[in-house]
Amino acid sequence: RFAYVNGRYVRHADAAVHIDDRGFVFADSVYEVCQIQQGYIVDLTRHLDRLDRSLGELRMRPPMPRAALVAIMREVLRRNRVVNGMVYLQVTRGVARRDHVFPLPDVRPTLVVTAKSLNPAVNAAKYAAGIKAATAPDNRWGRVDIKTVGLLPNVLARQQAKEAGAQEAIFVDADGHVTEGGATNLWIVDKAGKLVTRPADHAILRGITRTTLMDVAARIGIEVEERRFTVAEMLEAREVFVTGATTICLPVVSIDGTTIANGHPGMTAQKIREAFFAVAE
Ligand code: PDD
Repeated sequence: RFAYVNGRYVRHADAAVHIDDRGFVFADSVYEVCQIQQGYIVDLTRHLDRLDRSLGELRMRPPMPRAALVAIMREVLRRNRVVNGMVYLQVTRGVARRDHVFPLPDVRPTLVVTAKSLNPAVNAAKYAAGIKAATAPDNRWGRVDIKTVGLLPNVLARQQAKEAGAQEAIFVDADGHVTEGGATNLWIVDKAGKLVTRPADHAILRGITRTTLMDVAARIGIEVEERRFTVAEMLEAREVFVTGATTICLPVVSIDGTTIANGHPGMTAQKIREAFFAVAE
């Protein structure tokens, strides 16, 4: 495997950044994950737009013009022979002696790009069976709409979910409303049959898959409502599913040991997933 690090393509095993890198020291860094389908970078423009927004919110300098960034992403995919899989891109504020305040503007941002192949059959099995999830208090900071690598609460919640025999964590805010998954956005089909997800405020990441799913839903005549919902409403929903760049649309069939509906993936998730792949092609 090969990775791109600050202007060079290096063997993945040898890829490294400096110990004074602010990504390492302060998690002063943003990232993107894009799905690769049949060699195409899915929703590339939306991912790069969100990257620009994340950089802007943190007053971080883009490492290079967009066209150059895309050329590097494609080259990393080519060198790793990725046809189906993902590309990972991370930008940090650069290397500087440890000091919380921003370094001088001449400090060059760090850019890392990696890629890996994913076996579509693994996801297919998950789509067919659905996954289990476990709720966790959402104790993250107030700006999780910025896609930073400061993911410690997500790490802990997902680890706890794993130890409870589940594959995803579901964050719940202080009012008992669901925010999102540990690395996904969360959707329910409510008792009235409406597809519902939380509005993209500062309490969730505005997922690219979430946005594209709204396009897809409109195309196939499924109405989406953006409103908050409680854990109780989620547990009584007709369907629950999560979306993200690497999973697309994954049914949740059990939460904290409570079976959702009849315990099998629902029709809405399936229809949306099929329509999603049709759009991607
Ligand atoms: N996670 N919410 C959180 C907290 C996420 O980390 C992600 C993505 C999403 C879904 O966003 P998108 O549809 O743009 O992938 C929602 C990536 C895949 C990750 O950290 O691996």
